[in-house]
Amino acid sequence: MNKTILITGGAGFIGSHVVREFVNKYPAYRIVNLDALTYAGNLENLKDIEDKPNYTFVKADITDAKHIMEVFQEYKPDGVIHLAAESHVDRSIADPSAFVMTNVIGTVNLLNAAREIWKNDFEGKRFHHVSTDEVYGTLGETGLFTEETAYDPHSPYSASKASSDHFVRAYQDTYGLPVVLTNCSNNYGPNHFPEKLIPLCIHNILNNKPLPIYGDGKFTRDWLFVIDHAKAIDLVFHQGKNGQSYNVGGFNEWQNIDLVKELCKQMDEKLGRPEGTATQLITFVKDRPGHDLRYAIDATKINQELGYKPSVTFEQGLSITIDWFLSNQEWLDNVTSGEYQSYYAKQYN
Ligand code: NAD
Ligand code: DAU
Repeated sequence: MNKTILITGGAGFIGSHVVREFVNKYPAYRIVNLDALTYAGNLENLKDIEDKPNYTFVKADITDAKHIMEVFQEYKPDGVIHLAAESHVDRSIADPSAFVMTNVIGTVNLLNAAREIWKNDFEGKRFHHVSTDEVYGTLGETGLFTEETAYDPHSPYSASKASSDHFVRAYQDTYGLPVVLTNCSNNYGPNHFPEKLIPLCIHNILNNKPLPIYGDGKFTRDWLFVIDHAKAIDLVFHQGKNGQSYNVGGFNEWQNIDLVKELCKQMDEKLGRPEGTATQLITFVKDRPGHDLRYAIDATKINQELGYKPSVTFEQGLSITIDWFLSNQEWLDNVTSGEYQSYYAKQYN
């Protein structure tokens, strides 16, 4: 093994795709997946690669500084790709503390551990922090987020991610730690946890339950297929410049209501139900507090500097995603039993 790469949050939605991409593409790397297996972490997401010789799983909580230091001392990673986080905005509104602990303190624990084991010898080392476009706050009807857009987070989730981004940059500026950051738009795809809009609606359409649309449904998000995010992370991790941030997105904006109608159309077709069946489930509900109106990424920098382009159109990606959920209903049943039921009842009833 010529390098050890430690990926945090590798059992989650995006992390599992990043782990798979690295394990399959780089057989000479040892990939260590460090994850606490919270409600959002699921080793079922990695069944197809768990026996690969270059893959190791370590159960650890990034808020536990002592354990994290032990893991770093044992595996001595050359690179860290940090995805572990509390990731859902609505949960952050209900309970911000867990977001501060994992997203801020957890990130600082990882930075300290990297600094400790790398000492001041940073040759061939890299800390890649995976962040979000939500740190930029909200856009009006026009404009795009660039890497120069000032941070203006509104939810406890985005405030915690913004804080972690600042710590990552501060470690580069203060200690010379070699870091890169990516700020990505909304992901969708296989293994997406059904607390988020798209998989929640897929699950509810399958069960003939209401599709809850916050406010007037005119809020806009910029959607990227999760495997295209994983490919962007690979590119930036290997070719990005130290100290730089790269926005990642697909120039693919949808108002929530239009997106859900498109999803309903494709679901009706695939389920052989009459057109219009699923749209009848659309229900407008109370808005999310502090709801950002519009996110849209200007991905020119990653495109021009690193040649990045998403590989699928939104229509293709959505179709692949729906097919995956239809073929993996046991996965969906498993993740929607237990804790999900009480979360759902509290959030939507
Ligand atoms: P997710 O909620 O699906 O997965 C998070 C993973 O982190 C889970 O496996 C969970 O077990 C693990 N985790 C949580 N707390 C932990 C802790 N204290 N210690 C160790 N592991 C812990 O999240 P996701 O949607 O896959 O997002 C991954 C990363 O990408 C996050 O940092 C998120 O901010 C960022 N991001 C997400 C999106 C998106 O659309 N989902 C877009 C841009 C950026
Ligand atoms: O922009 C990147 C971010 O995208 C990531 O950093 C976050 O981790 C990820 O969760 C996602 O945040 P959003 O809040 O945009 O995603 P969510 O799927 O929760 O909501 C998408 C839009 O749909 C948003 O405008 C809120 C709305 N919505 C969401 C839910 C869950 C509804 O109208 N109804 C719902 O039930």
